[in-house]
Amino acid sequence: MKIVFNDVSFRYNGKYVLNRVNVEFETGKIYVVVGRNGSGKTTLLKVLAGLLEPEGTIFLDDDCADPLLLRENVGYVFQNPSSQIIGATVEEDIAFSLEILGLDKEEMQKRIKEVLNLVGLSGLEKEDPLNLSGGQKQRLAIASMLARNTRFLALDEPVSMLDPPSQKEIFRVLENLKKKGKGIVLVTHELEYLEDIDSIIHISDGTIDFCGSWEDFMMKGFEDVEIPFKWKLWKKCGEKVRWEDRYENSFDER
Ligand SMILES: Nc1ncnc2c1ncn2[C@@H]1O[C@H](COP(=O)(O)OP(=O)(O)OP(=O)(O)O)[C@@H](O)[C@H]1O
Ligand SMILES: [Mg+2]
Repeated sequence: MKIVFNDVSFRYNGKYVLNRVNVEFETGKIYVVVGRNGSGKTTLLKVLAGLLEPEGTIFLDDDCADPLLLRENVGYVFQNPSSQIIGATVEEDIAFSLEILGLDKEEMQKRIKEVLNLVGLSGLEKEDPLNLSGGQKQRLAIASMLARNTRFLALDEPVSMLDPPSQKEIFRVLENLKKKGKGIVLVTHELEYLEDIDSIIHISDGTIDFCGSWEDFMMKGFEDVEIPFKWKLWKKCGEKVRWEDRYENSFDER
């Protein structure tokens, strides 16, 4: 399955913040969106997830995709997880995101258990989300999105409040979902903890000025994005070396 943007633009108060964007997202791939503050990353993700109605055309395979169709097919995690939390307990919060699917109670409970386990929040089912730490709220927001089981996942800086080991943990979850065929579009600054990136998308002032492999991105060099040391190592070795395999986590503990 594929989502194709065809000359997609979006304006706030008459000013274009996305300008004639042409890009494709496929299932089974991880896309990372980078660019400086205010460049349009969040706007791009919100349009993809059907939360904003743009100018231009978006296709979902052969169908012209309106925001409703996109909302059905793209899960979304907000940059600020508190914007997304509405339930009085953790399990209720996830149940809200499932309401529209009309699942029976048993299936709902099963999904809630599954996603809480995936994001490492098992045991907190009855907790008030307001009592959670910033990192736990991010985990909950991710769980609510995962529970919907959409084919595409759009996540806006989903690990910004987590410590490095937890960031890696969440990225491993996303990489496994990619293997199961999800299409993942991620805004993040934590490039060094990702092991598996299919495409980097660089956005400047609402325009995509690069879309390609991490190798090509590194060669091109953008001053607003710091290249992880690991990529330079990968390039030099001619293969992907997992930092952890070589140094057995000693690097993190220092
Ligand atoms: N609700 C809004 N009303 C008016 N302008 C907005 C609104 N949201 C975003 N903008 C403007 O649109 C532009 C793109 O914003 P966007 O949030 O997409 O950028 P971003 O790349 O996600 O930034 P950041 O790295 O800070 O999250 C910015 O100039 C921003 O000020
Ligand atoms: Mg943003």
